[in-house]
Amino acid sequence: MKVLVATQKPFAAVAVAGIREIVEGAGYELALLEKYADQAELVSAVADADALIVRSDKVTAEVIQASRQLKIVVRAGAGYDNLDLEACTKAGVVAMNTPGQNANAVAELAIAMMIFMARNQFTPASGSEIQGRTIGIQAYGNVGRLVGAKAKALGMKVKAIDPFLSAEQIVAGGAEPASSLEELYSTCDYVSVHIPATPQTIGSIGYDLITRMPKGATLVNTARKEVIDEAGLKKALAERADLKYVTDIAPDNIDELRSEFGTRVFATPKKMGAQTSEANINAGLAAARQIVDFIQNGVTKFQLNK
Ligand code: 3PG
Repeated sequence: MKVLVATQKPFAAVAVAGIREIVEGAGYELALLEKYADQAELVSAVADADALIVRSDKVTAEVIQASRQLKIVVRAGAGYDNLDLEACTKAGVVAMNTPGQNANAVAELAIAMMIFMARNQFTPASGSEIQGRTIGIQAYGNVGRLVGAKAKALGMKVKAIDPFLSAEQIVAGGAEPASSLEELYSTCDYVSVHIPATPQTIGSIGYDLITRMPKGATLVNTARKEVIDEAGLKKALAERADLKYVTDIAPDNIDELRSEFGTRVFATPKKMGAQTSEANINAGLAAARQIVDFIQNGVTKFQLNK
């Protein structure tokens, strides 16, 4: 039984060691494909793998079809827009994610990004404090709830909205429910985005929502670049010199945004929300355990393509 870990953005070494212990402890073989430059390398490496662990690596129909004996693929992380679930189902491959395992790392980055922008990207210009400001959390799942709790501890007022949660559930989770997305954007000094990239959400945050934000507001994106309508964002930033955008996933037009809006825009050089040894250990080891549990006991908890 061969378990392939294919990560363009590798896990911390300590997480790989932990994955190895679980995989080899179960009597399986571990193969590593790290920092690969070409998708063809993944296509070729998957050929004789029985199980696959990935991060944001693209598990396309081509990858699935190139595998001769793949039984399970686990996305060590939350968002699974990188998995072709239809191709997995067609080939009888079980697909899973590891929800919540890297959530704290992403939540900490969202808070750090807010403060970084409030302090003008750590330039000497006089900034502002986040205490007393209102944060709106768009999607109150594992990451959103942690952002809310941390923001509250920093003295912020927390509002949230989530299409899968009732107002009562949001209140029970410690936030004030917003009645609509429009209300959330209109009333919050910071909006932190935690929605997945799906056909319904792609391009859904654009000019209309962004220009509803109050004076001096900042949009914080640690989710996916695809959920932002980039042209709409650019137009909003051009019309409203008080608005800011900070993201962990650089938009395609980042160079234009940087040259036109300077320190009002910031993007990390590489998506790094989940890039902590703790998150790598949590998500990587969970993925390895889920594989062993599936192969040995048929456990399908966290299966995405049921
Ligand atoms: C996730 O969906 O879990 C996060 O976006 C982290 O993605 P990464 O594993 O590619 O860093």
